[in-house]
Amino acid sequence: MELPGSSFTLRPWRWEDAEPLLFHADNPRVAANLGDLFPSPYTLADAHEWLRARAADIPPYAMFAIDVDGNAVGGIGVILNEGPKRIAAELGYWIGETYWGRGIGSEAVRLVRDYAFETFALRRIEARVYPWNPKSVQVLKKNGFVFETRLRNIQLKGGVPVDMLLYAVVR
Ligand SMILES: CC(C)(COP(=O)(O)OP(=O)(O)OC[C@H]1O[C@@H](n2cnc3c(N)ncnc32)[C@H](O)[C@@H]1OP(=O)(O)O)[C@@H](O)C(=O)NCCC(=O)NCCS
Repeated sequence: MELPGSSFTLRPWRWEDAEPLLFHADNPRVAANLGDLFPSPYTLADAHEWLRARAADIPPYAMFAIDVDGNAVGGIGVILNEGPKRIAAELGYWIGETYWGRGIGSEAVRLVRDYAFETFALRRIEARVYPWNPKSVQVLKKNGFVFETRLRNIQLKGGVPVDMLLYAVVR
């Protein structure tokens, strides 16, 4: 199962992604914009843990590697809810720094937005962004996500309480 982009493909993760995953994920500038559960430094053991979890994924897939020329250079996916909350999902994504600023983030969010709305019968996709990440805000806005609120002291980042901006697209 693949979602084709203009310069990349979204596809399920595979065990051979460990080395490129390690290369692109082990970057404090990536981790600075993600939740503290994203390891930093990022080790080969972290890559293997992620890929072991992904090996248990079954179609329809909710997590994708961003593949450029056969290499995983980032990840994107939705975390699905169950029960009455199953109409909403949370979107997350990251791209290796080498590939920033080429439009991949904007297009990948569009592809997963459309795929997830259809595949999982969603009515809402939300994303949480740190206030210091205007690039990600721009990517979301370009894809119809609307600012809803500022979640104050919503989580710890490096041991410090931080705010997050809540964006969502509904249909
Ligand atoms: C955020 C991220 C996914 C963006 O991906 P990308 O492929 O570099 O993004 P794109 O090239 O598609 O678009 C970036 C947009 O931000 C804009 N931008 C860049 N710097 C900006 C700034 N300082 N302020 C506002 N907009 C900015 C660009 O102009 C572009 O918008 P445009 O296409 O309208 O001109 C990527 O930088 C990343 O992975 N960062 C680390 C992890 C992360 O932040 N994940 C998201 C967590 S919510």
